[in-house]
Amino acid sequence: MAGDQPFASGFNGLARAQASLPAAWYSDPDQYVREMAAIWTRSWLPFCRTGDLPDDGTYHAGELAGRNIVAVRKPGGDLAAFHNVCRHRGAEMCAAGSGRLQRPLLVCPYHAWAYDLAGRLVATGPARAVEGFDRARHPLLPVGIATWGGFIFINLAGGSQADFEAALGAELAPLANWPLDTLEVAHVDTREIACNWKVFWENFNECLHCPGIHPDLCDLVPIYGRGIMVREDDPDWRSHAGETAPRWSGALRDGAATWADGGLAQGQPLPGLSEADVARGHTYGVALPGIFVVGHVDYVRAVTVTPLGPQRMRLTATWFLPPGRRDEPGFDLERITRFAIRVLGEDAAACELNQRGLASAPFEAGTLMQEEYEVYAFHRWVRARLGEGEAAGSRAGRRAR
Ligand code: FES
Ligand SMILES: [Fe+2]
Repeated sequence: MAGDQPFASGFNGLARAQASLPAAWYSDPDQYVREMAAIWTRSWLPFCRTGDLPDDGTYHAGELAGRNIVAVRKPGGDLAAFHNVCRHRGAEMCAAGSGRLQRPLLVCPYHAWAYDLAGRLVATGPARAVEGFDRARHPLLPVGIATWGGFIFINLAGGSQADFEAALGAELAPLANWPLDTLEVAHVDTREIACNWKVFWENFNECLHCPGIHPDLCDLVPIYGRGIMVREDDPDWRSHAGETAPRWSGALRDGAATWADGGLAQGQPLPGLSEADVARGHTYGVALPGIFVVGHVDYVRAVTVTPLGPQRMRLTATWFLPPGRRDEPGFDLERITRFAIRVLGEDAAACELNQRGLASAPFEAGTLMQEEYEVYAFHRWVRARLGEGEAAGSRAGRRAR
């Protein structure tokens, strides 16, 4: 029935107030375990950069959704990834970080079981063959691996590049023109936030908080100062459809080209961007639940989310630049990093105040207002991943910060 439609017609917004997720879901340890199992261990998550495994026989090991994972580059250049756990008695195979194997073998440092880079067990060190043991039944356990934009994504539940494209291709398509795999890491900012991971994504998915929380950002992106993300969020947007001023269009303020102190871009624009990409000033790709990526005219910023517990998460922001850009005369890295670090700090503080209240909420659930349509879509996505109903999909595929 049309009357049951949660979304308004004719503009981006909820047709009626909706209940938020149960308040207990933001602090209950059992719910956290449930979400890790149903969502985080079954999603494509960013793991490292392809440049961390530059050629055959290189590897990168690290933690992902509470699991120990190793990715390797096989002879011939293909990538593979496994649980970084020996099938003998479960020792860690490779220490965390990147490195190069002496031979194309993963050798357990405990009793020297050796696996080829397809994960097959090929030797058992000094252990003799014994009745009831079959090498073929003890390969390293594989995980799904895919690449996008120079990132290696892992899915603990398995999956191929085609599966990755089916899951996230459309969400990341807005960044298709950015030469992401050629860019280099210029700066990393890591912080822990005392909030549940869902609080971060809810905050990301609305701009009602922008006027009160982000004064500088609202100056740079005037439409945010109206508490909305894009032109079509205004129920009355058609009567302003011809207005080109940033306050209506959603573009950066006049004279600004990028997220930076002063709004000025540095160096040549990144190659391959369209006029629309440049005019927009910022373009988002979102790969729930692990990362969002923002393309600017002169740099790219990626922000990853790592749950650390029911009420704690890590946020890692990485700035990417073309090779050599940092060495150009007059280039000021801090001018671009400072701005977004300030915004991230404001968001982190907002998330923590939300968490402190939620952790002792005297009600079952909060309420979503008209502008929080993407928060609602996110909640539907969470519920669908937990096996409770259908995902609503992103209403407009356009978020705020
Ligand atoms: S645990 Fe790996 S060889 Fe024993
Ligand atoms: Fe924000």
